[in-house]
Amino acid sequence: MIRLYVNGVLHAVDVDPGTPLLWVLRDALSLTGTKYGCGIAACGACTVHVDGEPLRSCVTPVASVEGKHVITIEGLSGDGGHAVQRAWVAEEVPQCGFCQSGQIMAAAALLARNPRPTDADIDDAMAGIICRCGTYQRIRKAIRRAARNMAGEA
Ligand code: FES
Ligand code: FES
Repeated sequence: MIRLYVNGVLHAVDVDPGTPLLWVLRDALSLTGTKYGCGIAACGACTVHVDGEPLRSCVTPVASVEGKHVITIEGLSGDGGHAVQRAWVAEEVPQCGFCQSGQIMAAAALLARNPRPTDADIDDAMAGIICRCGTYQRIRKAIRRAARNMAGEA
C-alpha cells in the first residue's frame, strides 16, 4: 500500500510502486481531470501539484510521492473559483480543452510562488506545456488577469 494525500484526502492505493502517479489519479482514484498527452514528460498535460510544486505526473512513480500532498485540477478550488480558473473563463482560453488542466495547474503554481510575474516569468513557467490549439496568447492574458485579480486590482 502506498499512502498519499490527494486534494486533502488521505488515500492508500494498492499498486506497483513504479506506477505513474497519473494512472493512480485517473484509474485508482477516478480523477480524470488530469490528462494523458505523451507519457514522456514532453507536453505538460498531466501537470499536478506535489507539495505545491508543479510536476508531470506521467513520469512520476507513485512511490516517490508517498506521504506527500497532491493537488489536481479537481482540488484546486471547491467551486472553480480559483483566480486562475475565473481568469480562464473571462478570457475564454480553452478550445478543445485537452491541455487546459495542465495549463491551469502550471499557472496556479506560478502565481502561488510569484504573484506578480513578468511576461518573461510567465513564458518560463509555461514553457513546454503544449497546446495544440494554440491558445498561448489567451493563456498569457489570463495569467496577467489572475495576477491583477489576486492583487485586488481587477
Ligand atoms: S502526459 Fe505527462 S508530460 Fe505529456
Ligand atoms: S485547448 Fe486544445 S490542446 Fe490546448
